[in-house]
Amino acid sequence: MSEEKIIRLDMGHLDGDTHKDSNRAILCLGIESSCDETSAAIVDSDRNILSHIIYSQIPEHQKYGGVVPELAARAHILAIDEVIKQTLEKAGKNISDIDVIAATAGPGLIGGVLVGWMAATGIAQSTNKPLVAVNHLEGHALVPRLHASAANGKDGSMSVEFPYLLMLASGGHCQILLVRGVGEYELIGQTLDDSAGEAFDKVAKMLGLGYPGGPVVDKRAGMGNSKAFNFPRPLCDKPGCDFSFSGIKTAARTFLDKQTAPYSEDFINDFCASFQAAVVDCIINRLTNALNDERVKNTAPKTLVVAGGVAKNSAIRAAMEKLAAENAMLFAAPPMNLCTDNGAMIAWAGIENYKLGRIVHGPIAPRPRWPLTEL
Ligand code: KG4
Ligand code: ZN
Repeated sequence: MSEEKIIRLDMGHLDGDTHKDSNRAILCLGIESSCDETSAAIVDSDRNILSHIIYSQIPEHQKYGGVVPELAARAHILAIDEVIKQTLEKAGKNISDIDVIAATAGPGLIGGVLVGWMAATGIAQSTNKPLVAVNHLEGHALVPRLHASAANGKDGSMSVEFPYLLMLASGGHCQILLVRGVGEYELIGQTLDDSAGEAFDKVAKMLGLGYPGGPVVDKRAGMGNSKAFNFPRPLCDKPGCDFSFSGIKTAARTFLDKQTAPYSEDFINDFCASFQAAVVDCIINRLTNALNDERVKNTAPKTLVVAGGVAKNSAIRAAMEKLAAENAMLFAAPPMNLCTDNGAMIAWAGIENYKLGRIVHGPIAPRPRWPLTEL
């Protein structure tokens, strides 16, 4: 069976069996389990997060220097029931109060995705509630409409209107997207090799800074000299909006092969600052080209948005805020706890899809790969 045929979303009208009172906000239970976070949240259509539990497996994977898919799947199995139970308890809700169930159905580590998806399917079938199959990337892409803040992260109460230009940077993906509406994503550029998050994680590993690399490299970069090492800026002398991070990673390896470990604290700080500056320059260069792309210009998005785990990065947020101001655009980023994987973004994407009638009828198979352009 071809991948396209596997997932069947019904685009027709809602059954309307659970949300009869249209004046009341829709209440959605969202479940995320596509990587190393088991998370659930209850979110309403008035943009309130009633409860949110994120059980991070990071400590379990740290000793291996990255996520081990089989261990992740087992950890999700052990955690999922408790995470959902606590999410309901914290919100003071019973499952009967919930209008719609949403869960990540891909892309991601399939063992983990299956755990969350089967839990959601079981709840939806046993309670006769509508079920939404959420694309994990759409969760990241839409969460700035639930809560967003400016670069300093002080005000998390903004909501972003369509259309917007999105830099989606996570551990698994790096894409520039024109977001026209729910389910309407136009790919403007993407990485040809590694994602930005992968580059952070790999460089951190080379320096012996542990997993995940992004947060620690970000912190160390703040204490270092960004001009100490001359990292390449791949593709920045070329037109277009695609990225390549493998060259930066190889340059890091080559620099480090000439050094003797253990590295000094100053060396690590300077190395992180120089590496991060190269990543920031690539992102700004590619976004500048995207802003001049005919499709983007014709759509005239008012807001420049960053989302995904890498959106936590202080230098990327600051540089993108500056780029937005130079182009008379607003800038928005999710609050820090909604950048990395979380159940609230899945619940919110569930609500946005449910409102359009995009619920699942009958069994579907979750997808390890599921591009946003195939919704
Ligand atoms: O979105 P996410 O939680 O998982 C995926 O869907 O992949 O993103 C995780 C990625 C990791 O690569 C992590 O190193 C990166 O986000 N990350 C950061 C920062 N915090 C997390 N990268 C750069 N700077 C940060 N502060
Ligand atoms: Zn993610």
